[in-house]
Amino acid sequence: MLPTHVTLVDVGPRDGLQNESQPVPAATKVELVHRLQSAGLREIEVTSFVSPKWVPQMGDNAEVMAGIARQAGVRYSVLTPNMKGFEGALAAKADEVVIFAAASEAFSQRNINCSIAESIERFRPVAEAARAHGMKVRAAVSCALGCPYQGEVGIDAVDDVVQRLLDIGSHHIGIADTIGVGTAGRVQRVMEAAMKRVPLAELSGHFHDTYGQALANIYACLQLGVHTFDASVAGLGGCPYAKGATGNVATEDVVYLLHGLGIQTGVDLDALVDAGAFISDALGRPTASRVARATLAKRARGANA
Ligand code: HMG
Ligand code: MG
Repeated sequence: MLPTHVTLVDVGPRDGLQNESQPVPAATKVELVHRLQSAGLREIEVTSFVSPKWVPQMGDNAEVMAGIARQAGVRYSVLTPNMKGFEGALAAKADEVVIFAAASEAFSQRNINCSIAESIERFRPVAEAARAHGMKVRAAVSCALGCPYQGEVGIDAVDDVVQRLLDIGSHHIGIADTIGVGTAGRVQRVMEAAMKRVPLAELSGHFHDTYGQALANIYACLQLGVHTFDASVAGLGGCPYAKGATGNVATEDVVYLLHGLGIQTGVDLDALVDAGAFISDALGRPTASRVARATLAKRARGANA
């Protein structure tokens, strides 16, 4: 039995754009968020309150948050690596903070300049403060299916970080394949381990699509009942500290899969394709979404007929 409804978190404005080397104006980011919410997305990861020296593209975080005409029922989340980031998130009135620990020591050092244990201690006050302010705490476990620096990552290492993130008060756990190397069987084993600790309603998958496995991995998760996934409009992005990793699975492709399975998402695929076309045009390159490419080609054939 597959789930009847899936919640999609569009991480394109954050995970998608953080890796862009060309400057993307804040107004373009705001317009992207507006288009995503108009397309029916109810969870949008907008930006990161990280160090602008580390990730310059997210340096306009406050401006982007302030520019959004908020829609009732939409949750706007932001990444917060430490209390300084939390203070930014609070001032910007984010609904949810995302903390991000790695299941690999090597990646933790490269991404946030500290060990896994140190990162958990930095996230502890963030989680406490967020809860005290009624904000949701979502925690991402990076490199859960492999690490760009150390290679294989054991399920025990993932399990350990999941538990530590729960212990400091995370409401939600996202299992992230940062470099998109996971395959369906392994993804199921990692998810099954996480399901022993995390209720299904608060467990999600975050699959970069580097090796083209993300849709298969999502299907493998659906078979277990997992019903929340991150995805990135137009398949934007990657992580600046995971070289060679491509963007997240394209939201358009996930929506097409889910609707084909009769699973509701609340997303209007045509409007989502338009949102993806908007940001792809703004970046000056074709969309990475196969579904968007096919839809746009079909529309063009229709217009020429
Ligand atoms: P650090 O250099 O060790 O930090 O960086 P520090 O505490 O020593 O501070 C150094 C300077 O940064 C100081 O400024 C701080 O004020 C400033 P200075 O005195 O030199 O002028 N600073 C900040 N400024 C703004 N906002 C902040 C902040 N914190 C310190 N929050 C730090 C440690 C964590 C800050 C840094 O390593 C960092 O910002 N890393 C961000 C890395 C990142 O954003 N990576 C991409 C997102 S994670 C991801 O994509 C994975 C995910 O998608 C899941 C998956 O796919 O795996 C979530
Ligand atoms: Mg990511």
